[in-house]
Amino acid sequence: MEQNLEEIKALLKKYNQEHLLNSYDLLDNNKKRELLNQIKTIDFELISHLYDTTKQKKQNCSDEITPMEYLDKYKLGDKYKYYENIGKEAIKEGKLAAVTMAGGQGTRLGYNGPKGTYDIGLDSHKSLFELLCDELKEQGKKYGVTIPWFIMTSRENNKQTLEFFEKNKFFGYQKDKNIFFFIQGELPMIDTEGKILIGEDGLIKMAADGHGGIYESLVKTGMVEKMKQLGIEWVFIGGVDNCLVKMVDPVLMGVAIDKSVTVACKSVVKANPHEKVGVFCKRNGRPNVIEYSEITDEMAEAKDKDGELLYGESHILCNLFSVEAIERMGSEPLPYHIAYKKAKYIDKNGDLVVPDSPNAYKFEAFLFDAFGEVDDMAVLRVKREEEFAPVKNADDVGVDCPKTARELYKKFYNI
Ligand code: UD1
Repeated sequence: MEQNLEEIKALLKKYNQEHLLNSYDLLDNNKKRELLNQIKTIDFELISHLYDTTKQKKQNCSDEITPMEYLDKYKLGDKYKYYENIGKEAIKEGKLAAVTMAGGQGTRLGYNGPKGTYDIGLDSHKSLFELLCDELKEQGKKYGVTIPWFIMTSRENNKQTLEFFEKNKFFGYQKDKNIFFFIQGELPMIDTEGKILIGEDGLIKMAADGHGGIYESLVKTGMVEKMKQLGIEWVFIGGVDNCLVKMVDPVLMGVAIDKSVTVACKSVVKANPHEKVGVFCKRNGRPNVIEYSEITDEMAEAKDKDGELLYGESHILCNLFSVEAIERMGSEPLPYHIAYKKAKYIDKNGDLVVPDSPNAYKFEAFLFDAFGEVDDMAVLRVKREEEFAPVKNADDVGVDCPKTARELYKKFYNI
């Protein structure tokens, strides 16, 4: 460890991060080893580049943004059956897998645990994971297959998630046979001086690097290889927080196959111009999503000649990819978006600091920033009341909360 330590000290000096070893001597041997391993895996060049980006003034976006074309699932006419049949065949042949992104914690919800384990208050008291699984099993039965299910966790919630599934006997799935877990990537958090933070445990304060890392994680953790072994060609990737998510949709698959696109996404009409959803668009002619935090009021409110929102196709995190597209997207780095957050840390005197306002930067990549990789993709407008009931906020917020999700769920399933 000693020689190692000298090399690491030199590395930290180079990047002005020597404080990371301030409390090193106070750690036990396991923690010492863990800290050194953490330091060795950090891409310090990337971190200093990301710090520089926090200092840059937000430039007025010079990209050319134009609306994205879409198909309305319920205005397809005869084509509905045509696409559906194509999709049904592919599903029966076992070509579809589902991925649930469950790396996030229920912070906004005020829930302390993996979001998928949250009980939205139905009489059955089923968790989000179980509600998603019920639908997946039901659909599998319909097509005579078991849809393989891949669950992305984060280092923070992986253990708890696995324990939860074990306790619930994987809801009838079989671990490593048709249900698989993989951990998403993470990046250190830094303060406003660019210094990497040390957390309460004496180790580097890491944070999940956003769901944009999913492509790389699927490749690196061997999940793509596993999919290929299972004969999977199409992968539905969705969030854990939408209790009405329809992961198995033959029409969506049929559209993708028929149109020879490698990505096909579902949209719902935006409820109002300022709903907190990203919207599909074309950026410099390529498919993209403008996130709700990044769209201007003018663009959000713009209407077309029929009075519909020009940017009204909401991205609901219901996206279908070919396995080959995932591999390609996993090999290209995505840009990181900056979030300014409150983060507890240990200061240079070894004292715990609990801030009451944001003090640290977190960096996240968004899955849809990879859409620009593809020349074309399909967007299929579906019905909100059938497919979108997200659980994001606590009930007092009044929207996208357990109460609204529960009502939508009950109405759809007529329970
Ligand atoms: C997200 C979308 C937004 C979309 C809306 C629909 C982003 C950046 N924006 O917003 O375009 O309209 O959902 O509901 O996603 N997750 C991980 N790991 C991470 C971060 C998130 O697995 O590092 C998962 C969460 O568990 C959740 C999903 O991704 O299932 C969405 O994340 P969240 O941060 O809640 O996104 P929103 O801001 O709601």
